Formats: sequence, C-alpha cells, structure tokens
Amino acid sequence: MRIGVDYYPEHWDRALWEQDADLMQKTGVKLVRLAEFAWCRLEPREGEFDFAWLDEAIDLFAKRDIGVVLCTPTSCPPLWLYEKYPDAVMVEKDGQPTRTGIRGHRCINHPAVIENSRRIIEAMTKRYGQCDAVKAWQIDNELEAYFCFCERCNGKFRKWLKNKHGSLEAINRAHGNVVWSNEYSSWEQIQPPYGHYADAWMNPAYMLDYSRFASDNVIEFSNWQAALIRENSPGKPVTTNVWYSGHMPDFYREFATLDFMAYDNYPVTRLPDDPEECFSHAFHLDMMRGVKRKPFWVMEQLSGGMGCWAPMSRTTSPGMVKGYALQAFAHGADTVLHFRWRTANIGAEMHWHGLIDASNVPGRRFEEFADLCRTARALEDVRGAEIRADVAILISFDSEYAFKIQPQTEGYYYFEQPQRLHRAFTALGLNVDVIGQHEDLSGYRVVCAPELYVTDPAVSERLHAFAEQGGTVILTTRSGVKDMNNNIIMDQLPTVYRDMVGAVVAEYNPIGADTVPVRFEDGAVINGRQWCDILEPEGAEVVARYDADFYRGKAAVTRNAFGKGVVWYVGTVGRQALYDKIALATVREAGLDYVPDLPPQVEVTTRVADSKTFRFVFNHADAPQRFRFEGRELTLAPFEMKVLKPTDR
Ligand code: GLA
Ligand code: ZN
Repeated sequence: MRIGVDYYPEHWDRALWEQDADLMQKTGVKLVRLAEFAWCRLEPREGEFDFAWLDEAIDLFAKRDIGVVLCTPTSCPPLWLYEKYPDAVMVEKDGQPTRTGIRGHRCINHPAVIENSRRIIEAMTKRYGQCDAVKAWQIDNELEAYFCFCERCNGKFRKWLKNKHGSLEAINRAHGNVVWSNEYSSWEQIQPPYGHYADAWMNPAYMLDYSRFASDNVIEFSNWQAALIRENSPGKPVTTNVWYSGHMPDFYREFATLDFMAYDNYPVTRLPDDPEECFSHAFHLDMMRGVKRKPFWVMEQLSGGMGCWAPMSRTTSPGMVKGYALQAFAHGADTVLHFRWRTANIGAEMHWHGLIDASNVPGRRFEEFADLCRTARALEDVRGAEIRADVAILISFDSEYAFKIQPQTEGYYYFEQPQRLHRAFTALGLNVDVIGQHEDLSGYRVVCAPELYVTDPAVSERLHAFAEQGGTVILTTRSGVKDMNNNIIMDQLPTVYRDMVGAVVAEYNPIGADTVPVRFEDGAVINGRQWCDILEPEGAEVVARYDADFYRGKAAVTRNAFGKGVVWYVGTVGRQALYDKIALATVREAGLDYVPDLPPQVEVTTRVADSKTFRFVFNHADAPQRFRFEGRELTLAPFEMKVLKPTDR
C-alpha cells in the first residue's frame, strides 16, 4: 500500500517547501499531488509560462524519493482568460452567467477554454511528460456531468440528439413530444432545461437524453485531455478524480479510456444516531473498485473536520485517519493520498482540515497518519492483491438519472437498495463487487440487480441467462418500468422480468413516508417503506406478505425457481433487516462460505496475493468491540483495522 498527500506549493512560503518535503520523507509519504488549481502561477499572462517554481518543487520531492501526480489545471482558468472572453463561464439554469471568483466555473465547450487548455496541457506535458518523478497525471479536478445552459452547449446537445436519433421526427417519437404540444419542427426549438420549475416538469424522456448528453459531454472533454497528455507523456498512467456527487458522469464510460480509477473519499466524522443509516463507505469503495474491476486510488482522503461552504463537521476521532485509509485499502485501493498535507491559511477552504493544522504544529491527526505510513510499509506485499467476490450488485447510471428526474416517492432514492443489499451481504463477511450493469456476470453466484428502472434488453437477457444457468438473481421494486427512452413499457410490471420472477405486480402503492408491516413465513415481521408492489404469484413461492391495508395477505417478497437458478423479487423498500434476511437465505442456499454472527459494524474483506489470503477486519463503530472470529478472540478499538496473518489459500 502506498501513501501520499495533496500539496499546494503555490500557497506556501518557499521556505516551507523544504521542511515539508523533509517531514514527508521522514514520515513515509511516497507521492504528492500537485498543481490542479495552479494555472495562474503556471501561466501568469496569456502564453507566458512560469515553470521555474514547479520544476523546483518536483525536484525537491524527487530528491527525497517522493513521486508526483501532476494535474492539468483546467478546473480554474486564470482571470485574464475571463477578462478577454467574459462568456467563457458556465451559464446557470436561469440563463445567467456564473461569476468568477470561485472554481470549476468554466464552460468546457468554450473555444477559448479549449484552446487555452490545450496550450497549458501541451506546455506541461512537453516539460514533464518524460520526467521520472512524474508517476501519473490527473485530468482537471472532480469533473461532473455539468449542466451548462450556454448556447454552445445547447448547440452540442442538438448535435448529440441528431447523432443519436437522426431526425426531428425520430426525436419527437422517442421523447413523446406530442404531450403538451412540444413537437419540434426546427432544430432551433431544442433548448436546455432552463427555468425555475423542478426538472420533473420537463419531459422525462428528454431529460434522460439531456443527462446522458451532459455525461458524454464531460467525458469527451476528459478523453480529449487524456489523448493530449499521452502524446507527450506516453506510458504514464492518466486518470481523473471523481466523487460521489449529485451529477456523476457515467463512471463506466468515463474511465473506460483512463488507466486507473481515482476516487475522493470523505467518510463521515460523526456516525449517525439512526443505526439503519447506511453510512459506511464500504459501498462507495466497492463501487469505485468495480468501475474498472481493478485496484483503484483514493486521490483525496479524509484527514480532519470538513467545512467551508458548509458549517464545520466534527474532527476525525482517534482511529479515523488511519482506519478509514486502511478500509479503502481493504476494498481495493492500493494508493491513498490524504487531502491535504496542511490546512490552508488562505482561501475558501480554510475550514477543511488537513493532516497538520494551519499552525504548522503536527498534532494527533498527524501522529496517526505517521502510524498509517508505517503500517502501509508493512503491507507492501498486499499491493495489487485481488478481491474475488461471489456476489455482485449491478449499477445503472440511466436508472440513477431517471430516479433523479422523476422522484418515485418521498425519500426514495436510487442508491438506497443497492446500499442496503451491499450492507446485508458484507455483514456476512463476504466480498461484494459493485459493477456496471453491462459487465459480464460469469463467475458470480448471486447477482443483485435492484431497480433496473430503465430497461436495457441486453441486461435483462443476461440476467435471464445467468439465472437459467444456476445463478441467484435478486430483483426489487421498480424493475422493468421504463424503456431506453425513459417512457413507460406498456405491460404489467415487472414487464421483461415477469417470467423469471414468476409473479406479476397486480397493483402498486407508493406509500412514501408511511410504513407497512411485512410478515415472513417464519413469523418475522419487518416494516416495508416507500413502495408496495402487490404481487400475484404465477409459479413463484411467497416468502413474505403484507400485513395491513387493503392488500393484507398479498405477496410482498417472492422466490422463484427459474431454469437451474433462483430469482427473488423484493416488492417493497424494506428496513435493513429485510435485506439481511434475504441475503442470509440466499447465501445459505448457494452454499457460500460466510461468517456467521459478525457484530454489527464489523467489516471483513479478503484479498488474495501470491496464493496468500489476507483477511481485513475493520471496526466501523465508535466504541471498541470484542468478539470471536474464526476461532480467535479479537478486540478492536474504534476504527481499528486488523490485518490477520495471511493463510495459504
Ligand atoms: C474536493 C476537491 C478538493 C477540495 C476538497 C475538500 O474533493 O477535489 O479540491 O475542495 O473537496 O474541500
Ligand atoms: Zn456551456
């Protein structure tokens, strides 16, 4: 495992650089990330570059055997660019331009942004492309599937639609534009979703295409940068750092052309009071590993209390700096860079805490970081170790976008059931892969495909085949609702999955914040929330029934033998216990090796390297836990990770 930090030489007195680099070296830092916001210092005036300071910084680190991740600074074009091209900013939903003074505010389609980005990227890659100290490139910073409402972006959207659908008639058909007399008769009538109304007032078919366009648009920008970097820096890995945001580009497409996946990981510093809340970042980490189905990097890792645009959060409690980094490692991150070396004493992010306080006096958090570096060294031989999983959870960005566009019921969001299923299977000590819906399913025993709302026939066919050949599939509410255009499939739910589910949804009840008791055959009663599919079995066995309302006694959860396999259907959004119960039944039936009786908030993962099996046991609670694990007594402090002595596999 390799540890690094995010560092901003341009923010600090030159006199500090050397001290910082010395301390980094002494502590065991192997990588620094540099320059993602430093454009105004790299090119103070149009076409005039100043690389002297960066040369010096890179050199300083290289001498201490610290590698560099160099970033393209395109997230923040300097003010001279906006002075010359005032319309190079993004345009907001109300048609008003964004103002300068913040970051990430450039329109990525503005010719001056493109042209100036090209120049700075070429200059940087020519200078540093072959430099030994440069270990990887980061494109921009936290690119999102931005909605920019400028005319250029709108023009691109029109082209995107034309390319996809061919003609206005085809778009009108696909989007169902006859509704509310929205049929296009010229290309100019196509507009971005301006306005003050919630997006849900817009046509959902149009909105899904717009969301896909926004994702493709930023991916095109990222791909363009990647190609440019590779011209002068062949062989050096290129990535970009993403976060789990409200505007995620389709990560599967975004990283297809990049060399590795990089994630910005900020787990909570205050654990929620409600034990039902899915707060562990285990899900996010597995999802990020699943993007390329390979070990990934954490490009920014939590170091202290967070704040700046929001009020400050609690600081990282003892154990979190080290434990959360090791948790990332246990889930497949081989390199973790902490954000940031030192808390800023200037700029908007002074309240977002680094490893060292702004006073520059290393304290408790730094000591813990130093300890992490020692542990990381000891774990060097686990780097690159594989994570094999029998259980997979499928993710669809189309469905995530479509849920955002049309809220289902109050409080119902796309990622809830994937996270609950993930928590249910990981609570059994199993590795779980979280992967794109288009991935190959061979090798898995259990595949959870929650809420495949936007129906891709290729995916439903693959799920059919998987179950037929003996796999277990878990489907949920809101499966098979929409076609690829985000229009309703005119058939009884769960439409294309009906045969494999062996049941039909006779009626549904979107209950929102209400609850309904669901009674299992063994007598257990667990509440359902948000949604009730009232199921009529057509061959499936009833596992649980509603115990209230006009559908008392009707099926809520079913299980169907299909081909050589089994298909479950979960017709309500349950409390966690519901998923726990289904996961346990599934795992037992599939004969998977699981860990019974793990205490809550203990996470176990397994990595395999050179025929050695490493077990990672993590206490995610803010209290110590003592329990028996595979024949031994374990005591874990809050947020402590134990890596057990490897066993031969
Ligand atoms: C993000 C950004 C960083 C910084 C941190 C914390 O992850 O990439 O530049 O803003 O959040 O504020
Ligand atoms: Zn734009």
